[in-house]
Amino acid sequence: MNIYFQKTHQRSFGTYPLEGEVLMNAIAAAAETGYRAFDTAQMYGNEAETGEALAATGIARDELCVTTKVHPDNFGEADFMKSVEQSLKSLRMDYVDALLVHWPPVGGDIAPSLRLLQQALERGLTRNIGISNYTAQMMRDAKSIVDAPLVTNQVEFHPLLDQSILLRAASETGIPLASYSSVARGEVFKYPQFEEIGRGYGKTAGQVVLRWILQKGVSANTMSTKPENIRANFDIMDFTLSSIDMDRIDALNATNYRIVGKDLVPWAPDWD
Ligand SMILES: NC(=O)c1ccc[n+]([C@@H]2O[C@H](COP(=O)([O-])OP(=O)(O)OC[C@H]3O[C@@H](n4cnc5c(N)ncnc54)[C@H](OP(=O)(O)O)[C@@H]3O)[C@@H](O)[C@H]2O)c1
Repeated sequence: MNIYFQKTHQRSFGTYPLEGEVLMNAIAAAAETGYRAFDTAQMYGNEAETGEALAATGIARDELCVTTKVHPDNFGEADFMKSVEQSLKSLRMDYVDALLVHWPPVGGDIAPSLRLLQQALERGLTRNIGISNYTAQMMRDAKSIVDAPLVTNQVEFHPLLDQSILLRAASETGIPLASYSSVARGEVFKYPQFEEIGRGYGKTAGQVVLRWILQKGVSANTMSTKPENIRANFDIMDFTLSSIDMDRIDALNATNYRIVGKDLVPWAPDWD
């Protein structure tokens, strides 16, 4: 497990699409719950508020693990570094713990933005670099393009979507996956299996879903505005799903319910 993954404690708090008071309150509740890893992006337009909310928690900078992502519009040589410097200014930080390229670029040539990402690392703007929304082949290509380790590929990952190809690429390349849309934006709650399984462990449906993600070797990135959900989503380290229950949940992968595709995001690649 790489240092970035250790620092996230396998659970990170997502900030999209939060803003304003809702974002401030959610980050305060997440920090109070114990979250130390927070996920934002240039695209979310909330880096400044995230920085303000994190400063208000009073948590020491070196205890935090902050990830932001470079918008594909900033992948040009003239814009990339300037945009990262602006992100740091907005976040009120000298560095982020991980800087990701948010999407592969349209047209598919991943090399230029990855080289700029590595330069940001060399300039000390970030402690680690990573990727997001990369396919299995892109993961393999990325590994051969940059010398520094890529600490994560953040992708849509929940039990209703078959991501076995990406999981295989993660173990082959050593680039671990982190999840987004971990509870499929609520869609998982339509499946009674999670609640049924949870009863055996004294856990909720959401906790079963997130624990399944962790046991797949994937770090769970979740977002909630409700303190009770924020606490429940964090409280997933004191039980282990049996292999029978893991298999039962795996079977739901066949649903192939994908939230983020080309209809929503122009940069979405042809998914595996
Ligand atoms: N890299 C990328 O391209 C990318 C794309 C999308 C998202 N992300 C990141 O991933 C984070 C999370 O993803 P997401 O927001 O798409 O999806 P998500 O975490 O699957 O869904 C969030 C929604 O689920 C609800 N929820 C959360 N925990 C719950 C629980 N225990 N019980 C019941 N409802 C619950 C929340 O409602 P309540 O507020 O009512 O709890 C919220 O509306 C984002 O905030 C963002 O940081 C990254």
